[in-house]
Amino acid sequence: MRKAASGFSPLIALDRRSGKPLQKQIYEGFSAAIVGRNLCAGQRVPSSRTLALELRISRIPVLNAYSQLLAEGYFETRSGSGTFVSSSLPEQWMSLGRGPSVLTKTRSGTRLVSRRSAILPSYRSAPWTNKWGAFIVGQLALEHFPFRIWSSLVNRHVRNLRVNSLHYGDPMGSETFRDTIASYLRTTRAVNCDASQIMIVSGSQQALEIAARVLLDSGDKVWMEEPGYWLARRVFAIAGCDLVPVPVDEEGLQVSAGIAHSRKARAAFVTPSHQFPLGVTMSASRRLQLLDWAHRSGSWIIEDDYDNEYRYESMPIASLQGLDRNSRVIYIGTFSKTLFPSLRVGYIVIPPDLVGRFLAVRQAMDIYPPHLYQAVLNDFIAEGHFARHIRRTRLVYSERRDALVEALTSELDSSIELLGAEAGMHLVVTLPKGLRDRSLSEQASRHQLWLWPLSGCYLGPARRHGFILGFGSTTPKQIPKAVSQLRKVIESQ
Ligand SMILES: Cc1ncc(COP(=O)(O)O)c(C=O)c1O
Repeated sequence: MRKAASGFSPLIALDRRSGKPLQKQIYEGFSAAIVGRNLCAGQRVPSSRTLALELRISRIPVLNAYSQLLAEGYFETRSGSGTFVSSSLPEQWMSLGRGPSVLTKTRSGTRLVSRRSAILPSYRSAPWTNKWGAFIVGQLALEHFPFRIWSSLVNRHVRNLRVNSLHYGDPMGSETFRDTIASYLRTTRAVNCDASQIMIVSGSQQALEIAARVLLDSGDKVWMEEPGYWLARRVFAIAGCDLVPVPVDEEGLQVSAGIAHSRKARAAFVTPSHQFPLGVTMSASRRLQLLDWAHRSGSWIIEDDYDNEYRYESMPIASLQGLDRNSRVIYIGTFSKTLFPSLRVGYIVIPPDLVGRFLAVRQAMDIYPPHLYQAVLNDFIAEGHFARHIRRTRLVYSERRDALVEALTSELDSSIELLGAEAGMHLVVTLPKGLRDRSLSEQASRHQLWLWPLSGCYLGPARRHGFILGFGSTTPKQIPKAVSQLRKVIESQ
């Protein structure tokens, strides 16, 4: 049986001045809610004493109404545990119900939505995003997640819950946790920061939303990597910004093209450690050009450092923020790739003079990040489990990547290019001229292959078609079969 909110009463608008007896009004309130399916079979109702107190009447009319509802079979009692909506309601009652949902009927009149929200296409999940299977992007090797350690840390904090942790807290997030993150970022990413600059957020996506609200006005131009991260694009689009696609080559964002097209852009969004989706690492000279442009034109750089922990052929690359001498970079990170995406924990490193502005916007959005996982994560990192987990999963992903590169190289012909396999949990294969990735992805999803079309990452016309192949959750054993299936899909065109 479906779980339902237990022990609540339906809306019963008692009218003490009406001639209708109170017990009849209560009876009708419950029976209408049951027939209209606002109360469901098996759902617990409040005790007669509780309801009488809530309605501020004596208990007698409630008891009378309850006994009629029991007699007519709307209610049932279970000894020792209370009164419930009957678990087997007769069909003829239910067919008296309200029929199509009230929601589906409210269609008349103008139904204006904001121009901002109408900028985005209405939400529809694509077949290559919503199932588990080979090559799905963003899925991880969760079978290697240290469930036991994680659960024991969660238990530790749940058992020791203090009143303090139930109050509103610091809108930046827990200071202890921010200290731990600052030390992690200084050590592993050469990020120039201390705890006072770190804001804990619910993943990179919220970080982008807050940054956009603080830094950008409607009509501002924003450089976007082309091809690039579509979810970042959406944030700047609903902020009313004018998105400027700036091509990416083997050195990363072509800064000179950005300057030629729109020198005065207010911001640039970049993934310099591991460009999404092409996987390029931004060269040192491009980094310096980008920082120089931002300094001269008074622009902001939003650095999304989403999966830097996973590099297979070289040491992790230092952050762009660490090179910045003019506090022009807003640095964003996430635990979605290293731990698990449903955690919804990420962070922003804010230039010191902007902290107050970020705080004001954060407070207006969701006030404060939830306490529990900050405490758990803090211990997970501080006690060394995080470092161990990254080392272990780096080996796992490296094996998966090797198996995928080997299978792709031996199965696919040389007209297919393989890009960005040096880091992260995805790589890109491009398609020969003339083949369209979207229709192939739809076809492949019928064979349990989840191929993210590369063309969807372009803001303008797609220069290349291909697939983003996630290998985070695809094991070396599954890879050869999945790649051979991929070859068949491509050859069928
Ligand atoms: C480029 C990029 N940035 C960030 C993220 C992570 O986003 P979040 O932290 O909101 O889960 C992803 C996830 O796939 C990504 O591809």
